[in-house]
Amino acid sequence: MTSILIFAGSARQGAFSKQLAAAATTLVAGEGGAPTLIDLADFEVPLYNADIETTTGIPQPVIDFRRLVASHDGLMIATPEYNGFVTPLLLNMFCWASRPSPSDDFGAVFQGRPVGLMASSPGRLGGVRVVPRLRDVVAELGMVAVPGFVTVPAAASAFTEQGRLVDRQTEDELVMLVRRLIAAGQRN
Ligand SMILES: Cc1cc2nc3c(=O)[nH]c(=O)nc-3n(C[C@H](O)[C@H](O)[C@H](O)COP(=O)(O)O)c2cc1C
Repeated sequence: MTSILIFAGSARQGAFSKQLAAAATTLVAGEGGAPTLIDLADFEVPLYNADIETTTGIPQPVIDFRRLVASHDGLMIATPEYNGFVTPLLLNMFCWASRPSPSDDFGAVFQGRPVGLMASSPGRLGGVRVVPRLRDVVAELGMVAVPGFVTVPAAASAFTEQGRLVDRQTEDELVMLVRRLIAAGQRN
């Protein structure tokens, strides 16, 4: 079974991107994958500073995150855009997790791992501007973004009480993305 690690690019309680990540989690399970939904707010890490790395090493939550990445076949990221760009939460975790850690055996954890990209925004563009930027970031880390992406505009009214996407076309697009990701994860 293809295991998929899913997380949002926002730590905010009730974040729309977390709702999107949760909706994707349900769809991954529905498509026969094995999803793990995590909240980056549970991984408390300082802003990357090489001095911290030199003096106290890689923080334990980063090693925990690296372990999770290493133990999954693929990743799914749902994120807002901040000023059209990747959120500091994501960038900071990626910076830390990209560092080779002497205290784990996971190596370059992102290398070759397929990833599905999603964005959301309360605005009408759905955070679409972050998608190519996030695609560059994940590619630089060695991940392989599966073709396509999903954006959710007007995110404040985009989810049902049960956590499903209201718009069936968007849900269909997300199912297609999930299928491509699961297929890519199986090949790895
Ligand atoms: C620093 C900052 C920059 C933002 N820039 C954008 C933006 O470029 N485009 C956009 O659609 N929304 C932008 N927003 C609004 C966010 O989409 C909105 O706060 C959203 O709820 C954050 O995502 P979340 O619900 O997943 O936490 C910005 C918000 C913040 C705090």
